[in-house]
Amino acid sequence: MKSLYEGLVRPLLFSLDAETAHHFSIASLRRASHFDLALRSLKRFAPPSKPKTLFGLTFPNPIGLAAGLDKNGVALPAWAALGFGFIEIGTVTAAAQPGNPKPRIFRLPKQEALINRLGFNNDGADAIAKRLRGLRESGRWPPIPVGINIGKSRTTPLERATDDYLYSFRLLREFGDYITLNVSSPNTPGLRELQEPAALSQLLHAIGSEPGPVAKPIVVKISPDLSPVELEAILAACEENGVAGIIATNTTLDHASIPPELDAEGGLSGAPLKEKSTALVRSIAANSKLPVIASGGVCDAESAREKFEAGAQLVQLYTGFIYRGPRVFREIVGTL
Ligand SMILES: Cc1cc2nc3c(=O)[nH]c(=O)nc-3n(C[C@H](O)[C@H](O)[C@H](O)COP(=O)(O)O)c2cc1C
Repeated sequence: MKSLYEGLVRPLLFSLDAETAHHFSIASLRRASHFDLALRSLKRFAPPSKPKTLFGLTFPNPIGLAAGLDKNGVALPAWAALGFGFIEIGTVTAAAQPGNPKPRIFRLPKQEALINRLGFNNDGADAIAKRLRGLRESGRWPPIPVGINIGKSRTTPLERATDDYLYSFRLLREFGDYITLNVSSPNTPGLRELQEPAALSQLLHAIGSEPGPVAKPIVVKISPDLSPVELEAILAACEENGVAGIIATNTTLDHASIPPELDAEGGLSGAPLKEKSTALVRSIAANSKLPVIASGGVCDAESAREKFEAGAQLVQLYTGFIYRGPRVFREIVGTL
């Protein structure tokens, strides 16, 4: 039987263009975040508790919200009420920026996929830090781990990327239970070059040497389009620099499975990404002791099980949530 989301909400949202539907959904969840009654009604989707410990943090269940859905951290209480085991906000950049020209998100329903070339549209680290401080002071901070995903501002040249990450890191780390360094989005020119060993080591060393009251776990989010040699070098750099874990993976630039008439420029997510992304999880688990958070093509209990069997400790979803709605957690967590 179709859920309320699949039967009613999704057709309505899908009658709008993808970005309008996104703004409408985020605005609704943002509003709901201010009202206890609304949060209580969202809680009926919440799955049973299946606690998991990682990085010294307790996750009520291992299924999280992937970066990009709540880039500006506006709806944290609502995500927690819906039953996510953890939330990752961002990508946040040092400077506020509008992102690429629209249209820039494309649905491929038959493929259960999305293509996006948003380009880190976000309110910037200062505004987001202020918002998070306000949320904390209001007493509405969610009772689940919150990750903060940071990336490079488009206008900052690659040689100054470290300073750009450091700026956001200094402002935001006090709010994150873990901090993700995003070096793998395909929509900011040159960003993926930060996965090269010398550039990555420089960034990791700078972030790791930054003095602060409490050391937060640092997680690196990688591309699915890496060769085995590239992956090996990234894992070595992460291990040498005390990284806590890897998020595998971001969206792919490999569009081979997409019919040309549906194709668009940007990062591909959802079902067509699943196998490639799972293969990377398996390879990391086989070649390193770094814990893996799997992201890529999880849309039901079976695809989540594949990630855990490949060696993932936690799983995140984005595209699967767009297509399946909140019932997807009950289904996944119920089988764990
Ligand atoms: C519209 C859209 C925007 C995204 N924005 C970000 C982002 O800002 N930062 C990031 O690290 N990943 C971003 N992602 C990637 C997702 O976090 C996730 O890693 C990827 O989509 C694979 O998971 P999925 O197949 O469950 O969607 C975005 C994905 C989509 C579809």
